[in-house]
Amino acid sequence: MENVFVMDHPLIQHKISIIRDKNTGSKEFREAVKEISMLMGYEVTRNLPLEEVEIETPVCKTKSKVIAGRKLGIVPILRAGLGMVDGLLSLVPAAKVGHIGLYRDPDTLEPVEYYCKLPVDVQERELIVVDPMLATGGSAIAAIKFIKDRGASNIKLVCLIAAPEGVKAVQEAHPEVEIYLGSLDEKLNDHAYIVPGLGDAGDRLFGTK
Ligand code: URA
Repeated sequence: MENVFVMDHPLIQHKISIIRDKNTGSKEFREAVKEISMLMGYEVTRNLPLEEVEIETPVCKTKSKVIAGRKLGIVPILRAGLGMVDGLLSLVPAAKVGHIGLYRDPDTLEPVEYYCKLPVDVQERELIVVDPMLATGGSAIAAIKFIKDRGASNIKLVCLIAAPEGVKAVQEAHPEVEIYLGSLDEKLNDHAYIVPGLGDAGDRLFGTK
């Protein structure tokens, strides 16, 4: 699949098994989501530009590389996306965090934005949109559109678990957006839950329901 990267590192697979298990409680679930996000972030940030600076070690002066240029923004889709923010921030603490909240209009079934607060310089940033579950793709497609409407053009989508239906929908709507996944699951069920999935990620993160 074009622009889709499934990160099947053993540590990621191991931790995804933990969050799939219905007997995993909220505390362990949250911790594992944070750790998976951090491990995925390692790969998602692989192409960050570097620049050379001069530093002095205890032994001598030398040239060494530091992250340069394009700045990062992390944009969780509320509310489950919040669970992925800290893991990414632990890798790139200087990243700004935007938030986007959507609900589905009960009449039109279209996603409606109810909250959107992004870094002011969003056009200059590489944005990492995060949502643990990519199911139908409706929220991710709408969130990416709202972000593009505000001038952003360099956008990646990072999800822990996806259904093929959602991946296809995002690819069709936003073909240039790279999609990073921890697992590509089998399918959606009749209630738009991912199978086998992990249930409702928001409820499991926050202990609701
Ligand atoms: N959202 C979730 O939290 N879980 C799913 O399986 C699908 C959408």
